[in-house]
Parts: sequence; C-alpha cells; structure tokens
Amino acid sequence: MKTIKELLRAKRDGHNWTAAEVEFFVNSVVTGAASNAQAAAFLMAACTRGLNTMEIAALTSSMAASGAQLGRGLSSRKAIDKHSTGGVGDKISLVLTPIAVECGLAVPMISGRGLGHTGGTTDKLESVQGFQTILPMDQMQQLLVEHHTFMVGQSDLIAPADKILYRLRDVTGTVENVGLIASSILSKKLTEGLDGLVMDMKVGSAAFMQSFDDSRQLAEEMLRICKACSLPITFVFTRMDTVIGNSVGNWVEMVEAEQTLAGNGWEDVNEITKQLAIEMVLLGGEVANEDLAEKKVSDVISSGRGVTTFHDILKRQGGDWDASAKKFERVFSKDIVGLAGAVPHVDARELSLAVLRAGGGRQIETDVIDPFAGIVFHKKPFDVLEHDGVVATVYASLPEKCLALQREVEQLLQTTMAPVVEEPSRIIDIWRWG
Ligand code: URA
Repeated sequence: MKTIKELLRAKRDGHNWTAAEVEFFVNSVVTGAASNAQAAAFLMAACTRGLNTMEIAALTSSMAASGAQLGRGLSSRKAIDKHSTGGVGDKISLVLTPIAVECGLAVPMISGRGLGHTGGTTDKLESVQGFQTILPMDQMQQLLVEHHTFMVGQSDLIAPADKILYRLRDVTGTVENVGLIASSILSKKLTEGLDGLVMDMKVGSAAFMQSFDDSRQLAEEMLRICKACSLPITFVFTRMDTVIGNSVGNWVEMVEAEQTLAGNGWEDVNEITKQLAIEMVLLGGEVANEDLAEKKVSDVISSGRGVTTFHDILKRQGGDWDASAKKFERVFSKDIVGLAGAVPHVDARELSLAVLRAGGGRQIETDVIDPFAGIVFHKKPFDVLEHDGVVATVYASLPEKCLALQREVEQLLQTTMAPVVEEPSRIIDIWRWG
C-alpha cells in the first residue's frame, strides 16, 4: 500500500485511487494515522480533480463502516428518513420528523451540522438548552424501539469518518463536490437500518448544486449507491434561491419549526414539508397510492399533533425549551426598516453568511456557535410594504455582532432585484426508485 503522502500526490495529479486505497485512507483519518492537514489536502484534491463512481462508492461504504451500525427492524414500524443536500433557513427536518412519526413511521435521524454557508439540523437542535445530539448506542436503540425516533449528529460512534471530514469541509471551501456530498450523506444514512430514504435535492443560487443538471448528477451518483445497497430512495428537487420560511439561525429556526407545526408556518415550508412527508409515507408502504398518502399527511398536519411530538422528542433528549426561550428574551435585537414598495429578494447565500459571521456558524473548526444569532423576517420577498416599516429583526448574543448583522442585512436589502409577482412552487421534480 502507498503511504498517505504518495496517495495525496497521486490524487493531486489526477490519478484515481483503488477501493482498497480509499478504505485505507478513511481508516487512517479515523485512527489519526492521517493528520487533519492530510485529510484537508485530500478534500481539496477531490474537489479540483473529482472522484469517479468507484471512488465515491468506496468512500461511502468505508465511511459508513467507520463506526457502529444501528441495525434493521428495531422499531415495529418502517424506518424512513429524510436528508437535505443543504439549504438556507432549511428547518424542514425539524417540522417533518414529528409529522412522519405521527403518520406511523419510524425516523432514525442522523443529521449534519452547519456546512459551508448552510445551516445544519444538529446545530439547530443544540440551540435548545440541554438537548443531547450525541447518544450512546443503547439509548438510540431504546428510543427507536419505544418512541420510533431520535435526532442525533455524527459522533465518534456513528460515521466518525464523516464527522471528521465534514468539519474540515465546512471551513476549507471543499463542500461543493458531487462525490463528497453523496458519500457524506449516504454514509450516515446507511448506518440507520433504513427501509427507505427521501432526499431533498436543493437547486439554486443558495444551494451547493446551483443548476438542475448538477443536482441531477448528484442524484444519479446517489441512486447508483442506493441501488447497490437495495435501499429505496426518492429524490424531491426543490428550489433554493430565497430563504426557506421566515428565519435563518439556529434557535430562531427551532421557533419557526414549532410555529409551523402549530399551523402558523409560511407557505413554502408547508409545501416542502408536505411533499416530503407524502414521499416518506409512500416509501413506508403505509398506503396504496399518492392520494391516500396526501390525505394521511394532511390529517396529521391539521390535527396539530406534531407540536406535542416535537416537544416530546426534545424532552426525551434532554432539551429544555422554556429555558432557551427565556434566554432568547434577553439577547440583543435590531429591527430592519424597509422602504415603502416591494420587499426585495435578498440573496439567501449572502444572508446566511451574514448570520454565520454574527456567530451563527463556524469560521474555523473550533468556533463556538451563538445559538441565538439569526434573522426573522416579518415580510416575504416581493410582499408590498404600504409604508416604510419593519421587514425583519436580527438577533445576536453580543451587541457588536448584532449591530454588524443589522448593517449587513440593511445593505443586502438595498440591492433590490426585479420584483416577481408570485412566488413559484418550491417543488421542481420528483424521482422515485424502489
Ligand atoms: N448534508 C450532508 O450530510 N453532507 C453534505 O455534504 C451535504 C449535506
């Protein structure tokens, strides 16, 4: 076997690795035989030189095998999960999981942290005081048996290779690569003992895959791996140009998720959540056709039972919602005033980066996140303001960060784009396999 240094030279020069070399490299990353510098060098070379289908498959299976597997059939229900390729204001997993559980599915969810300019479900969950995103295996299994769900992140136990590489990708500009995204997502999902997976494939200016063609290429790579593992998968391609819903930030998105489950969500969040829930129910084989799936999901959504399940999930994993809500009342806030006229379409990527700089994400691996840094919009893009009025409120735990965020958002709001009369549907296309 070549040394890590030799392997890196080969990848730098555009040579492919064998499956055994990929496996050796992944194991070396986990044991520490390959340093973080070497792992980062691999990631950059993978982005500039690309990974072929065989390398992507080997990366996925080696990363999945780098930790423990949950095992199939722990819950009496069909285990169906959903994962997103990454968006801005993407709180869909938080809304969807309680709904899917109420629809009679098991949802063993291993999610990611903030990545590049996008937020991560794990960071959002950790904004709830006390919430544990790392659990021992027996506790995850027990939650699945008794309550049909848990929500955790990658850990030293589950997909540890993805945990290490993901953290490095976040801060080294090495996110936007089909092979790295496909293997990162599927390595986590293959440990969950799933009966099916629904992928929310984000497409647009604030997605990692900005064009539909790139997103389709990512889906094709993922499909190849899922076929080889006999894992049924559905891809829902959704638009990711403007912020999803009314908030960007960790705690503010938790609050929006709760409000959505209580029936007060913005239309785009409702639309994406409902379609993904329908696809999960169809994959679970709970109903015979799409109309019945739609009815089942609509009944659960209108019952409002999801709010109770949402709080139950948080409590079972140690979360203290009220304590976080009280703390949030004391953080710094500034209103953003807009001029009378159409509310501009603000670049979601830039907004997300502004929240990240205010403390909502990491600039280097060791940064500690401010759970309260964020933006809440009171108006949708393209809404009409009759008079000059408050369009959004920004929040941060440190006054100087709050002020800086206010200035950045005010500036972004000044770069008005051509008004669009009606917001288009977020759903672009759906592919089903299995
Ligand atoms: N989600 C992941 O888990 N990994 C990625 O690379 C992108 C989104």
